Amino acid sequence: MAGVPVGVAPSILAADFARLGEQVEAVLAAGAGTIHVDVMDGRFVPALSMGPQVVEALAGQVHDAGAYLDVHLMVERPERHLADFARAGADGITIHVEATPHTDYALAAVRDAGCKAGIALCPGTPIQSVFELLGDFDLVLCMTVNPGWGGQRFLPGSLGKLERLRALVGDEPSLEVDGGIDAQTAGPCAAAGATLFVAGSSIFGADDPAEAFRRVAATVRA
Ligand code: DX5
Ligand code: ZN
Repeated sequence: MAGVPVGVAPSILAADFARLGEQVEAVLAAGAGTIHVDVMDGRFVPALSMGPQVVEALAGQVHDAGAYLDVHLMVERPERHLADFARAGADGITIHVEATPHTDYALAAVRDAGCKAGIALCPGTPIQSVFELLGDFDLVLCMTVNPGWGGQRFLPGSLGKLERLRALVGDEPSLEVDGGIDAQTAGPCAAAGATLFVAGSSIFGADDPAEAFRRVAATVRA
């Protein structure tokens, strides 16, 4: 498999689920190379969202377009669910460093399943928490809001954290930002070292998601 893509990753959490295929098609046609899927278990975060069935339902469409399915697990003990998401067609699976004492094992299991491995940090989690895992992940996801809900405001302290995180992990891993990303916040995140930009409500909350995707993408194009 090629590397983790760069660019804007529309998050389907904010999509109209009655028209999910159509909405995903619109952003793929507008050039999205990644589709982000948010999985919430009602324990790690208060809300419940979706499971592997949604990944499976979208995998053919996303892969036919040459795009990447980026699965963000906001669930406790993610190691218990990895195989289901890999089997469903995920290209990358990201677990939270706060969600299990077995991060090393879980990241290795993601790679063994043929997926890119990601490690995510909540806003209050120090960047040093990924230090012992360097080399074991392909992507680090820096939450730029507290996980669990779409439509929150970008936390401005995230920019300094991103710079420190990039310096800690080096040039190699992808650096993903997630939460409150729009045409105003994506550019400063790119300047701070981010390479993959999750955007939910700024894209699917817009009247024209394709146009909204292009607007955010234009702000991070090198
Ligand atoms: C939040 C999720 C995000 C969410 C972002 O817990 O991880 O991926 O979809 O939504 P917006 O872009 O609306 O902040
Ligand atoms: Zn997410």
